[in-house]
Amino acid sequence: MNSGRSIESAVTLGPDELDWTAYALKYDLMCEFIPAYQEMINTLLQKLSECNLPPNASICDLGAGTGNFITAIASKFPDVHYTHVENSPGMVAVAQQKYEKNAIKHVEVLHESAFSVDFEENSFDSIICINALYAMDPQTEVLARVKKWLKPDGKFLVIDWGRENRILDWCWYVVKNAIRTHGFRRTLSAFIEGAETIKQNRRGRKGHESGKFWRHTTQEFSDTLIEAGFNVEHLSVVYRGYSDLAICSIKE
Ligand SMILES: C[S@@+](CC[C@H](N)C(=O)[O-])C[C@H]1O[C@@H](n2cnc3c(N)ncnc32)[C@H](O)[C@@H]1O
Repeated sequence: MNSGRSIESAVTLGPDELDWTAYALKYDLMCEFIPAYQEMINTLLQKLSECNLPPNASICDLGAGTGNFITAIASKFPDVHYTHVENSPGMVAVAQQKYEKNAIKHVEVLHESAFSVDFEENSFDSIICINALYAMDPQTEVLARVKKWLKPDGKFLVIDWGRENRILDWCWYVVKNAIRTHGFRRTLSAFIEGAETIKQNRRGRKGHESGKFWRHTTQEFSDTLIEAGFNVEHLSVVYRGYSDLAICSIKE
């Protein structure tokens, strides 16, 4: 029986650490109320389409969370083989249910850390990593692994949250949009139900302040990718200015 108590919270977390599994239980509720999250999915789908991947391509999602990106990509590219890498058991459980419900066949879910999972060299046509790299310290080590796992003509599509989390700005944005689309009563009940996400976002904010999470400007983000051996073919700011998007190939 699921007691609702997460595995992460069973070990003592510092105030600047996230309990990803507690977050997982309410993560999709939060996303439903953030139009910018759906916009980010649409942007990624558009960019992935422009990569002209083969129909049976292999795509790995690092820090894949509750599987929202793979689910969206699979609805457009059903023959692609997907690998979902995620180290929070709560996130993995939600993702597995979602893949079953949406009958996504070609997906392998790996409950592993980006630091311990192992793939052969040149395994993937594309690797995506959405708002997760900031939590993967040291980032240079993950980037070296990504470079090794990508095929020589593969693409790395990375979106990363790099800014201070302004909680009030997000609350106001969510409330404004939620009341417009869902009405006052539903908004209020969602806020009560989703209180855990606000708690975890506060922890995330502390993580960025303490340096546990990587805080970066767009330029620092791009410089880090270039230093790691990537060509940055596209660079833009997404997710209400909080995240950066880069499309990268491997430097020859
Ligand atoms: C903010 S969530 C983003 C989830 C998903 N990519 C999305 O955009 O909906 C960050 C995810 O990265 C995962 N994560 C953090 N460190 C990780 C690591 N070392 N290996 C694998 N996953 C990790 C967390 O558990 C969490 O699910």
